[in-house]
Amino acid sequence: MKKTFYITTPIYYPSAKLHIGHALTTVMADTMSRYKKMQGYETYFLTGSDEHGLKIERTAKAEGKEPKEYVDQIVAGFKQLWEKLLISNDDFIRTTDPRHQQVVQNIFRKIYDQGDIYLSTYEGWYCTPCETFFTERQVGAEKICPDCGRPVELVKEESYFFKMSKYADRLLRHIEEHPDFIQPVSRRNEMINFIKSGLEDLCVSRTTFSWGIPVPLNPKHVIYVWFDALTNYISALGYGTEHDELYQKFWPADIHLVGKDIVRFHTVIWPTILMAAGLPLPKQVFGHGWLLLDSGKMSKSKGNVVDPILLIDKYGVDAIRYFLLREIPLGMDGYYSEDNLIQRINTDLANDFGNLVSRTVAMIEKYCAGKVPAPEEAQGQFDQELLSLAAKIPQEAAGYYDQMDFANALTSIWELVNRANKYIDETMPWILAKDEKQKGRLNTVLYNLLEVIRIVTVMIAPAMPSLPEKVWAQIGLKDVSALSWTETEWGKTRPGQVVCKGKSLFPRIEVKENEAVTAGEGMSKTQTAVQKAKEQNTQEQTGTIKQSGEKPMESTQISIEDFAKIDLRVAEVIACEKVEKADKLLKLEIKIGEEKRTIVSGIAQHYTPEELVGKKIIVVANLQPAKLRGIVSEGMLLAASNGDTLEVVTLEKDLPTGSKVK
Ligand code: MSP
Repeated sequence: MKKTFYITTPIYYPSAKLHIGHALTTVMADTMSRYKKMQGYETYFLTGSDEHGLKIERTAKAEGKEPKEYVDQIVAGFKQLWEKLLISNDDFIRTTDPRHQQVVQNIFRKIYDQGDIYLSTYEGWYCTPCETFFTERQVGAEKICPDCGRPVELVKEESYFFKMSKYADRLLRHIEEHPDFIQPVSRRNEMINFIKSGLEDLCVSRTTFSWGIPVPLNPKHVIYVWFDALTNYISALGYGTEHDELYQKFWPADIHLVGKDIVRFHTVIWPTILMAAGLPLPKQVFGHGWLLLDSGKMSKSKGNVVDPILLIDKYGVDAIRYFLLREIPLGMDGYYSEDNLIQRINTDLANDFGNLVSRTVAMIEKYCAGKVPAPEEAQGQFDQELLSLAAKIPQEAAGYYDQMDFANALTSIWELVNRANKYIDETMPWILAKDEKQKGRLNTVLYNLLEVIRIVTVMIAPAMPSLPEKVWAQIGLKDVSALSWTETEWGKTRPGQVVCKGKSLFPRIEVKENEAVTAGEGMSKTQTAVQKAKEQNTQEQTGTIKQSGEKPMESTQISIEDFAKIDLRVAEVIACEKVEKADKLLKLEIKIGEEKRTIVSGIAQHYTPEELVGKKIIVVANLQPAKLRGIVSEGMLLAASNGDTLEVVTLEKDLPTGSKVK
């Protein structure tokens, strides 16, 4: 029997336009599903829309529409976006689908019949935008939602309650016994603490509005939206119906991929509902970080949402997908700006990969009459290095894909791309071509390059699904329909294949003033780093930049594009302590914009923890996390040192945390 793999995205609220942050979740799930398919799994990939609740009812009313009419139109837009993003979902579930409603009612009824749902009165606070109940303590004196910061409403009504508290111990045990259930680890610890602080029974019905699934036996009530929405993961599989073949095949889900804001619903409410219903729990809930703007989180009220459709039209779907996957480190937040996007397109896609393909194909056309030559024996250090990397990277990238660590998977694949570019410079095929005696060597070099291009394309296919077809057209391959990971093996290119130079895969983006697609503060800088870099190059070539003063030291020069890869941010130290049994290390809790992180720094001999708390410092925000004395350090602070003196770089002016340093 074929191995199966079931992955889901959250189902999205049709209350606002989907933005590039929503696209991130869906692209990640799509990439994972495509990757697993290439690994031989029978996959099922589900997305959909979460259409009930007071928020939707109010929004529809404000637009003078019936809720169903309103959601129909928004959901049509979702489907269009997913098509444009090449999302290969197997199903799209709507919570207004009769097939879904029936399953929700049946589960509610089952849990009620066994005494785990009871009727009582709810008195407390409710955040309508988050569709979440909160206690007096959680909303504080200001009566503000602890999740989104908006005012909450006081609710007093007859409600059904689900005995969630009854399942707290079992849930905790499950989380402790299944280390992979909540990933990444930081979210797991958060949830363990949350459950340990005590679970209350959950209010699972409302009476003050009607846009929802009626409670069976008491249609005055509608079922709480999260109870309704979470059930989509099994209603879509036909659970509890005559046709439950998909449920039998794919449940429990392998991964519920969700943003970090809704991990709690998926790791507390959903598993306890499943336990009460006597059903197996999903194997994993993966909480990814957010895509943030320089100005913070995208929100309609801030007017800074980035429309993915406009971006796809301008830069192409593969480039957008590449950016989203490459820019968010595993489980952490990442930053979007159009500058960063253009940077990635020009550097990674146009310069590194696009050039590798066009140079190689052009050389095969010129030196081998357009036919892939037969290689001779590999020889020398350059061949050895290239071939051993080409054997190693597919395993390494697969390891990262398996962990949903797309940023590192792509970084690792690009190591091979860059090695191949270096191989061209090392082997200099244009010199070999001048000497007839070197014909065999030239053939080997060109074959090796083509083979790397083929392998790289197979490896990036899950992330950039329309790329293989374009590359195949240039390197003389045809069938892209059933790409498999086994094709990353060396030597599958057949000599004699006819190459054909085509359009540039990723044309460089020239940026002119005021052309940015995106809106909102801090978003559309009119002069991009790319343009600045180009100006600088020109000035250097024409000698208009003088080397003024002495070079501070002999160091490798880097391009401004390389420098722009380093994401420096202003951060505030909110807590700090010594690391036990490590006399050089301090553990700092810092805030970058809305995000909190831990970093470990070797400055304990220069600073006491108290001296650092409250300081605004500068950190490298996109450094790969590293474990120091068992603590995961998620970044690095900047400090200047001279001999025994060390000073942490701080700010004189009070800029907000999260501000970019450049
Ligand atoms: N309807 C609920 C989910 C129910 S699942 C049973 C919901 N919908 S949502 O439309 O508000 O959000 C859907 C997903 O988009 C969440 O996982 C959320 O984390 C994600 N994102 C929203 N903004 C985002 C970013 N800026 N960046 C990354 N993900 C973002 O919650």
